Amino acid sequence: MNRSELAATARALAPKGKGILAADESTGTIQKRFESIQVASTEDTRRTYRDLLFTTPGVDEFISGVILFDETIRQKALDGTPFPELLDKRGIIPGIKVDTGAKDMAGFPGEKITEGLDGLRERLAEYRRLGARFAKWRAVITIGKEIPSRACLEANAHALACYAALCQEAGLVPIVEPEVLMDGNHSIERCEEVTVDRRSIKAVTLHHTYYQLHEHRVYLDGTLLKPNMVLSGKDCPRQAGVAEVAEATVRCLKATVPVAVPGIVFLSGGQSAVMATEHLNAMNAMGTYPWELSYSYGRALQDPPLKTWKGKPENVPAAQRAFYHRSSCNSAARYGKYNKAME
Ligand code: 13P
Repeated sequence: MNRSELAATARALAPKGKGILAADESTGTIQKRFESIQVASTEDTRRTYRDLLFTTPGVDEFISGVILFDETIRQKALDGTPFPELLDKRGIIPGIKVDTGAKDMAGFPGEKITEGLDGLRERLAEYRRLGARFAKWRAVITIGKEIPSRACLEANAHALACYAALCQEAGLVPIVEPEVLMDGNHSIERCEEVTVDRRSIKAVTLHHTYYQLHEHRVYLDGTLLKPNMVLSGKDCPRQAGVAEVAEATVRCLKATVPVAVPGIVFLSGGQSAVMATEHLNAMNAMGTYPWELSYSYGRALQDPPLKTWKGKPENVPAAQRAFYHRSSCNSAARYGKYNKAME
């Protein structure tokens, strides 16, 4: 694919009023999600659940693309249409998760390195044939005592850049996801205070990421960034408010993300569905930016429909309404026009 096609696909994934549904849970992760609603995770229940999401009436108004898992991109919807084709017919761009997971990093207790580069060129060619037009790779950065280490940041940024270059060679838009986890008791102030002098964990992560993307000659106009928001650690006694999170996140992005990048599509990372919407809304209400500020939520889009569905066929219409509603709230947040009364 040439550069202009990559750039056009990247822009088409983050148009005004729309964002991405991350439905790329690995077999282990979807099993955990299903356990929370007491549903057995089988190939068939996974297919039924993904069918529910992808066939939700009207949701194409708010969803630009869907990230699939390896099993799902090969599955057919309940009406027999392959999932990528079904999405494509609705004007929703199919994508694929291509990393093979974050593993313990040898010699660096508490830190992870994401795997999946071996054989990636061949896998990308196959996914392209199956209909994928973009891909995702998630690096995981943990905040803790004396971590993240420079070695962990460099190794993960390097892998992200190798992945991104291979994606573009194969004609797929890479979503570059360096996720700084919200696990831990760190304060938002720590992150904020060090952002200014560039020693922030977050700024450091993004700095390493863009340094490696440049080194590997990745065409930034044909990429999307999927970062975490700057939040208080989950176990921090003081939880930063919505405006504070929005300001810290935007300040951090402005310091590090090149304007060539067309869109920033946040992950939700364990925030509640409503909080993830509120934070995105606050950022978009605060001003205009060189990039689109959008969503690529997994849990924050799926928790309400998952809990409504509970594996029961009679709950499918209500679950689809819950998914439609959540998507419409996030769509409003793309314009800074969401308010709590919409709940
Ligand atoms: P969450 O929004 O649930 O964090 O998932 C997004 C994602 O794709 C993580 O890789």
